[in-house]
Amino acid sequence: MPRVLVTGAAQGLGAEISRELVALGYEVVVHGRDAARAEVALAAAPGALAAVTGRLDSLASTRLLAEDAKGRGPYDVVVHNAALGPEQDRPIATEDGLERMLQVNVVAPYLLSALLPVPRRIVVIGSDAAAGGRPTVDLEPPRPWDGNRVYADSKLLVTMLAFELAARHTDRQINVVHPGWVRTRMGGPLAALPVQDGADTPVWMVTSDEAIARRGGQYVHRRRAEPAPPAAHDAALRAALVERLAAVTGEHLH
Ligand SMILES: NC(=O)c1ccc[n+]([C@@H]2O[C@H](COP(=O)([O-])OP(=O)(O)OC[C@H]3O[C@@H](n4cnc5c(N)ncnc54)[C@H](OP(=O)(O)O)[C@@H]3O)[C@@H](O)[C@H]2O)c1
Repeated sequence: MPRVLVTGAAQGLGAEISRELVALGYEVVVHGRDAARAEVALAAAPGALAAVTGRLDSLASTRLLAEDAKGRGPYDVVVHNAALGPEQDRPIATEDGLERMLQVNVVAPYLLSALLPVPRRIVVIGSDAAAGGRPTVDLEPPRPWDGNRVYADSKLLVTMLAFELAARHTDRQINVVHPGWVRTRMGGPLAALPVQDGADTPVWMVTSDEAIARRGGQYVHRRRAEPAPPAAHDAALRAALVERLAAVTGEHLH
């Protein structure tokens, strides 16, 4: 069966996506930030093939994660799910001098994408918040702080990254999924959707043979392609982002 890597699988959408993929017979490698969270991820997806560990708010730790993950690969599909939400109430500098939310949500998926072989499919869990994002390449702690703005920025930037990968690898299926407003730690208890509904389109984009899942460079919600933020289609903006991410990480994108 195809092998899938799911980041941020200890809770929320990542745990549900992993659980469902295992149930469908996929070989699933789950990810947690450390050994304890990796154990939680394994317990959440009984039958998962393995767990890999690494913090996404550290370039060094993300590199170790990539090594760990390579040892469990190669992957047919990578699901970039892990992220920090807008509840962060102030800018936080990581050990790499980057803004933490931007590092976890944008720099880490870039670094993993640069260090792992390009899989047949990539599903990036985006958000409709991206529509309000700014295509800034300033990854240092911004001030004054607005967690919602920075979250929106991060989701726009990771959408641009996915569209750049899709443009470079037209033979692969590299897409962004907006899961809806989902009852997870990030979505909160008042969110509209149970986690199973939020996982529906991501799981479908991993598994489906329908035409939409066999294309790349799409922003998908409820199993349908919707208009992506204009910046995702702007090759010059994407190039500026990738150049900045390469400078920050020291790694070039395939
Ligand atoms: N929930 C929604 O309504 C909603 C809406 C739109 C988009 N999304 C997107 O859906 C995805 C999943 O979100 P969710 O709602 O499931 O959120 P969640 O319940 O907060 O889960 C986030 C996951 O990311 C992991 N993570 C965060 N920081 C990390 C770090 N520094 N290193 C390693 N792992 C880290 C967490 O690990 P720990 O468990 O160890 O903390 C957790 O597994 C995200 O990309 C989010 O932006 C969610």
